[in-house]
Parts: sequence; structure tokens; C-alpha cells
Amino acid sequence: MTYQTLLVEQAGAVGLVTLNRPEALNAINTQLIDELNQALDGFERDPAIGCVLVTGSAKAFAAGADVKEMATLCFPGTYLDDFLGRWDRVAQRRKPIIAAVAGHALGGGFELALMCDFIIAADSARFGLPEVKLGVIPGAGGVQRLTRLVGRAKAMDMLLSGRSMDAFEAERCGVVARVVPADELLEEAMDSAQRIAAQSRTAVMMLKECVNRVDEGSLAEGLRFERRMFQAVFATPDQKEGMGAFIDKRKAEFGKA
Ligand code: CAA
Repeated sequence: MTYQTLLVEQAGAVGLVTLNRPEALNAINTQLIDELNQALDGFERDPAIGCVLVTGSAKAFAAGADVKEMATLCFPGTYLDDFLGRWDRVAQRRKPIIAAVAGHALGGGFELALMCDFIIAADSARFGLPEVKLGVIPGAGGVQRLTRLVGRAKAMDMLLSGRSMDAFEAERCGVVARVVPADELLEEAMDSAQRIAAQSRTAVMMLKECVNRVDEGSLAEGLRFERRMFQAVFATPDQKEGMGAFIDKRKAEFGKA
């Protein structure tokens, strides 16, 4: 499979996707989102892959949806084609996805990072939803996801003004998991991805489902779902191996099925 807008590689059990439209600061056009979904489809199907890492360049993770592509769109067309509808497939993946973000993560670029399971940020990263400055609003889930993460006050502060925040503010308010020096970003993120890929696939995917439930329903429903998943994990060989290894004081060897 060849891609025009991405570089797609495999590093051990990690699938690495690098957004690659340098001439447009990785602005996300239809081709890029379609290619990203194809690459993620491939990693979902591949039993050798346990975690996916999505990154951009030192200057930009992605500077938004492609404004040049959107500028002439009109309402009935966007509605009938469900414009941006395909983006959310990124959030519905079952394998974990880490976003490694350096430079600009703006508009749709920030929304793409927010669809990933967590963000590791370079100290050069800047996050924002500046759509209001273009007379539009975010459309790929950024309002919902940012507000759930940072709360109403900061979400309003950012969304209504279009201001961006640096990596350290993003870490303080829970948008990013951690900040690392820019020249160590890929190494740190790859290290995290490899650790995740080495865990029990079943346990990792169940955890992802459980965490996602936190946002989807009530606490009572989430607690019940989490407990059922916990009970179900006792049906897996990985639970026997993981707990047995702990008791035997040895390193667990998990199956990859
Ligand atoms: N769409 C299309 N092209 C873009 C782009 C975008 N979102 N962002 C940057 N580019 C292009 C520029 O047009 C420019 O191309 P040309 O050389 O052909 O003119 C090239 O990338 C380099 O950009 P700049 O010269 O502007 O670079 P800079 O370093 O001076 O500024 C920046 C960087 C502050 C990120 C600036 O490019 C910028 O403000 N970009 C737009 C950010 C934005 O508004 N994003 C939201 C888009 S709307 C959206 O995402 C909707 C949604 O909810 C999905």
C-alpha cells in the first residue's frame, strides 16, 4: 500500500503513522483522513501490532482541517456528504493509539490528537481550536472532547477566543499525559507504545473500552460495565499468566492472539 499523505511503518509491535503534507503543515484534507483510516484499518487487522503511534513533523502535528479544501463548501453538500463524519472512525479503533505532538496542533489537528487515547507533547507543542477566527466552529468532536477534559471555563476561554495553549498549560489542565523535550519526543512516545504493545492485548483493549465508557454514560453504568469487564478477564489465559508470573516472581509472557 502506498500513501501520498502519510508515511506508514512498523517498528516491532508498533504501527507508526507520520502525517506527511509538509507544504501545508500537515493540514488534513479528505485524502489524508481516508489514507489514515486505511492505515489504521491495516493495523487493526494485523495481529503483530499491539499499539499505534500517530505523529507529525517538528513544526506541525497538523495545522487543522484543510481550509483551502473547505473554503467553497456549502451547507446542503456538507450535510448530505456528512462532511467530517469519517474522521470519527479514528476514535472508534479498538487498539490503543498514542498521538506524539510537536509544533502546531490546531483545529482539526488538535481534534485528531484528542481522538487518540492520549497525547505525549513536545515542549514545542501548541494546541488550539481557532475555528472561530475563520467564522466556523470545530466539527470533528473538539468542543465535546476539550470541554470534557478541561471543564467549561477553560473550554469557553479557548473556544470563544480561538487562543491556543502551550504544552505546559495543556499538561496542567489534563489535555496531555506528559511533556518531553522536543528532540526526545519520538523516542519517548515509541517507548510508551512498545510497553503497551508488550502487555496482554485483551487487557489493553478492555481497559480502553472501560476508560471510554467514563465519557459515554453515567458513573453507575460505567462502574457496572467496568466490573463486568473485570469479571470477564478471568476467562483469558493472559490473566492466569499475568497473575501467575507475579506470584512466581517472573516476567509475564503474554500470548498475541
Ligand atoms: N489548511 C490549509 N493550508 C494550511 C493550513 C490549513 N489549516 N495551515 C497552514 N496551511 C498552509 C498555508 O496556507 C501555507 O501554504 P502556502 O505556503 O501555500 O501559503 C503553508 O501551510 C505554511 O503555512 P504558513 O505560511 O501560514 O506558516 P506560519 O508558520 O506562518 O503559520 C500557522 C503557521 C499559525 C499554523 C498558520 O499556518 C495558521 O494559522 N494556519 C491555520 C490554522 C487554523 O485556522 N486551523 C483550523 C482550520 S479549520 C478546522 O480545522 C475545522 C475543523 O474543525 C475540522
